[in-house]
Order: sequence, then structure tokens, then C-alpha cells
Amino acid sequence: MNVDRQASTARVLVVDDEPDILELIELALLRMGLQVDRASNVQEALQQLNTKTYQLCLTDMRLPDGEGLEVVQYIIARNMHVPVAVITAHGNMENAIFALKAGAFDYLPKPVALTQLRALVNAVLKLPPPSATVRKGVRTLLGLSPAMEKVRDLIDRVARSQAPVHISGESGSGKELAARLIVEKSARRDQPFITVNCGAIPETLMESEFFGYRKGAFTGAEKDREGLFQAANGGTLFLDEVADLPLSMQVKLLRVIQEKKVRKVGATQEEPVDVRIISATHNALAEQVQQGKFRQDLYYRLNVITLLMPPLRAMRDDITEVANHFLARLCGDAKVELASSALKALQQYDFPGNVRELENIIERALALCSDGIIVPADLQLTPTDFSGMTAKPSVAGKYPLTDYLDSVERAAILEALQQTNFNRTAAAKVLGVTFRALRYRMDRLGITDKDE
Ligand SMILES: Nc1ncnc2c1ncn2[C@@H]1O[C@H](COP(=O)(O)OP(=O)(O)OP(=O)(O)O)[C@@H](O)[C@H]1O
Ligand SMILES: [Mg+2]
Repeated sequence: MNVDRQASTARVLVVDDEPDILELIELALLRMGLQVDRASNVQEALQQLNTKTYQLCLTDMRLPDGEGLEVVQYIIARNMHVPVAVITAHGNMENAIFALKAGAFDYLPKPVALTQLRALVNAVLKLPPPSATVRKGVRTLLGLSPAMEKVRDLIDRVARSQAPVHISGESGSGKELAARLIVEKSARRDQPFITVNCGAIPETLMESEFFGYRKGAFTGAEKDREGLFQAANGGTLFLDEVADLPLSMQVKLLRVIQEKKVRKVGATQEEPVDVRIISATHNALAEQVQQGKFRQDLYYRLNVITLLMPPLRAMRDDITEVANHFLARLCGDAKVELASSALKALQQYDFPGNVRELENIIERALALCSDGIIVPADLQLTPTDFSGMTAKPSVAGKYPLTDYLDSVERAAILEALQQTNFNRTAAAKVLGVTFRALRYRMDRLGITDKDE
């Protein structure tokens, strides 16, 4: 279907049985230069959908002859490519989440706020055509295994909605890459994409980091400052390692997601924000919920759509392709090949650090190989004995004490990371600290992965 993206010719179907609401919405849409058709029940709506092409359908949830959800399901089941948004009673998040799970583009709480309605319409008009390819310079997800195909399908689908997505998967399995691809294929692709590592912000600073602060809110707050939510306004906020959010912050985040408004620290007024949330964790968030470490209600709202990134060892058939891809990218014109014995070794390896680890292995092998052939030894797949390599800080530089302690800490962290092929979960275990503590320390010391 060829969607005409011009607002002046875009046609919207509004389904509601309350004349007042219909009129209000119709007026707002007409002012935006859209053409509007009305339907007052499910049957009428389905009829209209079959006779005309719509760029948007807005439906109330409770209709005289059924549920707005039936309209959503009808559109999705027939693959009609009509973004559909539901109008839900205020506070009835259950319905909203249900509709999003069924494939709705978004929801509007009652009473319908015109700013939200306009934002929604604008987002719909900005949707790239379903056939659009990712732009140059954006990495794509490699791998043809069924598990990866499923991921790609889901990414394409959720990109065309505003639903919150939760991505889970092991370290290095492409969670952030998937989040970026969702954005790239979404209406928000030209808007900010802000990533935040929830494990790296000290608890005391979280609220001001997320929501900003007003001048004078606390000592040192010399002028107003925007938070991450304001920075992401109109775009997407990627909450990485969301399981690391302390419970106190979880409550506040929940409120913001529910109300679509934030209040700066020290402010009396709330300000509206339009942010799509994508979150990720390297471990099962559901387990955290069961253990009482993560609020169930927040989980329910973040996890409207779940994307599971498969570990590389579940995509063994893809290892060769992915390895060759990295090889070609890293060595450019220079011809380097993987010996068949090396490929075999890779296929048998478990890749605790997943695709990131494979990329690192290839990079290292390129530096080690000779005669343009990578042999198994160049891959260094067996865990290396680091006993002789301990980076002991020099005793000479013990002062100032903080610098000395930092150097000890840095050396220990780097060693653990090397030992675990930059798998931070494993490195944290080796170091005997929590994942969260490791992320925090790495951040403080400015240690980043090669690809970050
Ligand atoms: N399927 C894939 N195809 C191509 N590149 C991939 C794939 N999966 C991961 N990568 C690459 O591996 C690296 C790690 O990916 P990413 O940062 O998305 O992982 P992650 O799951 O967020 O890891 P972590 O839990 O450590 O934050 C990146 O360079 C990314 O581009
Ligand atoms: Mg990541």
C-alpha cells in the first residue's frame, strides 16, 4: 500500500459513540489539515476501513456493540498497515497495555489532551514506509538463524508502534543494537536517542539525572538543568541495565511513564514529556520481580513487548557468516582468511560474550595471524592463564593515595575483563563485586569497551 504522507491528504477514522468527544477530536484533526471520517460503533468502523484507505484510526475502547480492541485486532489480522490508537479511560492502563500488545500504535488517556493528540498524529505521519531500509552507517543484525529472523520480524513490527519494549539477552548479544534498529525504523528516527546505564548512576544523583533540577534545589544547583527525560523528549530513552534501578527510583519512573510528565527536582510544576522507553537487562527481569528486587507494576509497563536476543551459541549456523563479516570489515582490502580448522574451533566454542566476543576474537586473531591465514591458535579460545600478567601497580607511585588506589582498581578491572573476554557479568564475578558496582566503577574510571 502506498501511504501518502502529506497531512493535507491524510485521512483519519475516528471511532467513538460520544458526540462531544468525536467533535472535539474531529475539530483538532481538521485544524491539522487532515480529512476525518467518523464511526460510532465497531461495525461501522470495520465497514469504513474496508471502503477507504486510512493513515490513522483512533478508537474509543468501549463502544455500543463491542470493544475498540476488536478494531485493533481487525486491522492487525488483515495486515492493513493502518496505525491504530485507542482512547482509554484515565488510569485504565490494563486496556492500554492490552491494545499495545495486540499491535496498537499507541493510546490516548481520557480526557483527550490536544497536545497528546497532536503528538500522536505527528508521529504517525513521520512513520517511514514499511519498506524503508536502514540508512547508511547503521549496523544491522547479522545472522539468519530462525531465532534471529524472529528478532528481526519483531523489531520491524514494534518499530511501527510507540509501545515500550524490553530487550533481554546475555552480554554482547546485541541488545543495544536492537534498540537502535527499532528507533531507526520508527517515527522517531530523527529525534534524540538517549541511552542511560541505570547501573552507572549513583542512587543519590538518579532523580536529578533523570528528571533535571531547578536552580537552588540543592547545594551546587547553580542553574536549572534538564534531565535525561527532557533530553530525550520527542525521541527515545534507552534504559540499559534497568534491573539496576534502585526501588526508590522505580516508583518515580513508574509515575513518569504513567503520567507522561516529569517534575524537576526542586520544581513545583510538572512538564509534559513525550518519550518512548526501550529498556534492557542482561538477566531475566522476571526473576528480579519474583525476588522482590524489581517492582511488578513497573515491569508490567516496561515489558509490554518483549524482545529476546538469542545467545550466539544458539545460532551456531551463523558463526561462519558473522566471523567472515567482521573479518572483511576489519581487514579491508588486505586478504585474510579463516582456516577451516579455525572455523571449526569457532563453531565449537560457547561465546559467553556473544557477538561482541566474536568480534574481539577476530580482531585479536588478525593481529596475531601470519601469511593471511587465521589458525586456531590465533583465536586464543582457551582461557588464558593470567597469573604471570598481573598488572601490579608500581610501588613508587603510592601518593597521592586516591590516584594510587584508582590505579590498583583499574588494573584489577582490566585484568578481569581481559580474562573474561570483556564479559562484564563474568568479570564482576571474578572481582567479587556486583554487576552494578562494576559498571559504576568502570564508568568512574573511564573504562569502556572497545566498541563503546
Ligand atoms: N547479531 C549481530 N550482528 C552484528 N553485530 C552484532 C550482533 N549482535 C551484537 N553485535 C555487535 O556486538 C557488539 C555488542 O552489541 P551490543 O552493545 O548491542 O550488546 P549488548 O547486548 O547491549 O551487550 P551488554 O549487555 O554488554 O551491554 C556491538 O558492536 C554490536 O554491533
Ligand atoms: Mg548494552
